[in-house]
Amino acid sequence: MAINSSSYTKIRKPNNNNSSMPTLTHLLYLLFISFLLFILLLHFPPSSSYTSSPTTSIIKHFSGDLRNITFSWNSLKLTGDKSPPTQLKIAVFSRKWPVVTAPGGMERHAMTLHYALARRNHDVHVFTSAPSPGDLPAEGQTKPASLHVHHIHALPGQWKSDLAWELFDTENARGVFDVVHSESVALFHRQARHVPNLAVSWHGISLEALHSGIYQDLTRSPDEPISPAFNQSLAHSIYKVLDEIRFFHSYKHHVAISDSSGEILRDVYQIPPDRVHVILNGVDEENFEPDKALGKSFREEIGIPSKALVVFGVAGRLVKDKGYPLLYEAFSKFMSRHPDVYLVVAGSGPWAKRFEDLGLNVKVLGALPPAKLKAFYNSLDLFVNPTLRPQGLDLTLMEAMECGTAVAATRFPSIKGSIVVDDEFGYMFSPNVDSLRGVLDTAVAEGAGRLAERGRACRSYAKRMFGARKMALAYERLFLCIKDDMYCKYPIIDFDM
Ligand SMILES: *[C@@H]1O[C@H](CO)[C@@H](O)[C@H](O)[C@H]1NC(C)=O
Ligand SMILES: *[C@@H]1O[C@H](CO)[C@@H](O)[C@H](O)[C@H]1NC(C)=O
Repeated sequence: MAINSSSYTKIRKPNNNNSSMPTLTHLLYLLFISFLLFILLLHFPPSSSYTSSPTTSIIKHFSGDLRNITFSWNSLKLTGDKSPPTQLKIAVFSRKWPVVTAPGGMERHAMTLHYALARRNHDVHVFTSAPSPGDLPAEGQTKPASLHVHHIHALPGQWKSDLAWELFDTENARGVFDVVHSESVALFHRQARHVPNLAVSWHGISLEALHSGIYQDLTRSPDEPISPAFNQSLAHSIYKVLDEIRFFHSYKHHVAISDSSGEILRDVYQIPPDRVHVILNGVDEENFEPDKALGKSFREEIGIPSKALVVFGVAGRLVKDKGYPLLYEAFSKFMSRHPDVYLVVAGSGPWAKRFEDLGLNVKVLGALPPAKLKAFYNSLDLFVNPTLRPQGLDLTLMEAMECGTAVAATRFPSIKGSIVVDDEFGYMFSPNVDSLRGVLDTAVAEGAGRLAERGRACRSYAKRMFGARKMALAYERLFLCIKDDMYCKYPIIDFDM
């Protein structure tokens, strides 16, 4: 940058009793301020366009209408200190409602969210399928009094949107619902079309599934034939995308659970930006927090010697599309050069035996009960997630970060845009063996001390962004905004401040 002498003199004047150093300082200061302004403009352009996740310090200054924001609602400073300005009557359509025997990701999200909303005194009515005989209610949580579950009269687990709609109609006649929430397509689009106060949460969309198919096929070696079934489903997924783009417009409000799926909904699916809202799924903050002593005793329990230099860990079903073949190959090559590095595998599935065969540096634990997860994450220097499925948002990464553990994950738009948003949090790799191995090498070269530092940065971000409480407050605000425009303004003096 060229600096002409006149501006140089002008800046210099107030300090002419000093040497030229303060002049330079001033210039740098001005440059810094312009840079900050530039960053602010980048995050809040006059028109709505895609922006990456902003930091909380910038969010403090946001004010305006929430409907057109493109960053996630989790980044708002929603404290929940005050009770909601009005009580909402909320209808929830969810194919399943969690029981001990079937803890699916999407259903668990629905339960965490709506229990939290009911505890904030909203009147929540869940429309779901009939439970199987012998199913017990999900453990550990007492159902709040203002949450009501309506089961349809059909075979256990069988979903019939029409029957749920009838139950909804009856309840709606007793007192009109302020907002209707559908978990994915639980409420079919032909019914959704007529509901103006509807929000649907998408836990994975077909364009992401198509990407997933592409990544999975690319890991196939040249001499391995493509299976006819996979080939067919890959070809079919294009038609699914086209179908989705057409029917998604029947839903009024869309909740994207990652920044990148929000971008797809706006830019590829062409849903008007003020109908797309990004709210990241949250993980229960009470179950995931740093506890190094707990981590240390877990290491002892599973037989990791204290001389271990670095401990990696993975969690989840040990199947191909979670990237286990990649990790298996990368770690087997890596192991011979690093005898003091360990890998903890928490999960069961077809790949368990292969990992066990790698020897003493690999601890295969099987699927861990939820109560053990906190100890597991705390025992690691680096949590690795080599998934090949860029769908939805991976909760394990968020759980690890909540526990203050650094992460390494496939460089997918959802992960890069919503989870590993800062290089400080860890590493990202392309879904191939060499790239993953490179990251394992780098992590070991940096060492456990540096990884712990990265882990602290993860914790501070996760605490602000990934808590279930924050997620519930973000949904509450969206639902209030759907009920009445006046709640779309942010901040509201008596509520947010
Ligand atoms: C959102 O932005 C669009 C385009 O700029 C505008 O037409 C629309 O009125 C905005 N909606 C809200 C609720 O501010
Ligand atoms: C895969 O599907 C494509 C088109 O759908 C077809 O042309 C190709 O022959 C199939 N390949 C195999 C190995 O099934």
